[in-house]
Amino acid sequence: IFGALAAQPADALLALIEAFRSDVRVNKIDVGVGVYRDSEGRTPVLRAVKEAERRLVERQASKGYLGPEGDIGYFDALKPIIFGPVDLGDRLCGLQTPGGTGALRLAAELIARARPGARILVGNPTWPNHPPILKSAGLTVVGYDHFDVATQRLTFSRMLDALSEAVPGDVALLHGCCHNPTGADFDAGQWTAIATLLRDRGVLPLIDLAYQGLGDGLEEDATGTRLVLDIVGEGLVAYSCDKNFGLYRERVGALYALSVSAEQARIVQSNLLSLTRANWSMPPDHGAAIVRVILEDAGLSFDWLAELAEMRGRIQQIRDLLAAADPMLAPLARQHGMFSTLPLSAAQVARLREERGLYMPSSGRINLAGLTPDTVAPFVDALASLR
Ligand code: LMR
Repeated sequence: IFGALAAQPADALLALIEAFRSDVRVNKIDVGVGVYRDSEGRTPVLRAVKEAERRLVERQASKGYLGPEGDIGYFDALKPIIFGPVDLGDRLCGLQTPGGTGALRLAAELIARARPGARILVGNPTWPNHPPILKSAGLTVVGYDHFDVATQRLTFSRMLDALSEAVPGDVALLHGCCHNPTGADFDAGQWTAIATLLRDRGVLPLIDLAYQGLGDGLEEDATGTRLVLDIVGEGLVAYSCDKNFGLYRERVGALYALSVSAEQARIVQSNLLSLTRANWSMPPDHGAAIVRVILEDAGLSFDWLAELAEMRGRIQQIRDLLAAADPMLAPLARQHGMFSTLPLSAAQVARLREERGLYMPSSGRINLAGLTPDTVAPFVDALASLR
């Protein structure tokens, strides 16, 4: 049966990890995959995570199954962080997932089960893994342009035009904050305009919230999600703790679904449970347990928030240094989160890799956290060498 398979190309973004690792140049720079690095270039285990793990090792009494919904304490503890002080009550359901990717896949399968072949509107550019996840679940991806890389500006009116053409039963994928790959987020007025349009057109929002706390702040980064759910009254939120808790390889996510009634939410939940059972059966526990231990403890939460603020501050510092070093990079200072996309061709990206040991995907996306104050100058110099 394997004879019928065609070889698939390696994932271009993940292939960068290996390519960088095997480059022997000492002054090489990795601004590829979206992983936070401190000013020494390390991806540290957060202090609060280490302490929570210690407590888990000491106190965890069983490795018995938890069930397809995963750790309910974890799921509930995240609610005020994501949704704020409003109690969405029994209209809000969902469960723990393996990373934000698991949440996206489950959301797509839920939509496909409700509406086979449903159209999902996705702004270009987006995270390269979005279309494959959505298509694999059977959705029809409809792209539209929402950002102009050359001018580093949102093409917001084109986005509204695209959403105005949506029909009831369509879905819109939105990045909750720290847009991957452009760093271009919406302000509250733009979020309100988007949400109003979605409500009026009968379009379901699917919000990918994978970087909360790495943009303007934990609360600030939830503005869009809260506005959309408030105005539209229903929607899906694919959440990830991989970045804001630095738990990448533990794959810690959750999918939240807001329905118009508690009765509908019960039906949605039963579908999420059955889809989960047919996929991974139950999510892995360790990462979610760490997050729960942190969020249930005021001291650990305080320390986590302090480290999150440090990460956020370091990314902004790099943005400011780049903007100050080169006028062409000035727009980066007002963008958010780990990523920006530079107006570079694939050939220029290849040149930067060969001549300067500078690693980024061919799209020109850069992970700001891959730079340090010491590597800003060689980075800017490498870009200037292309002109
Ligand atoms: C990224 O965009 O670099 C991260 O989300 C890692 C990934 O899985 O692609």
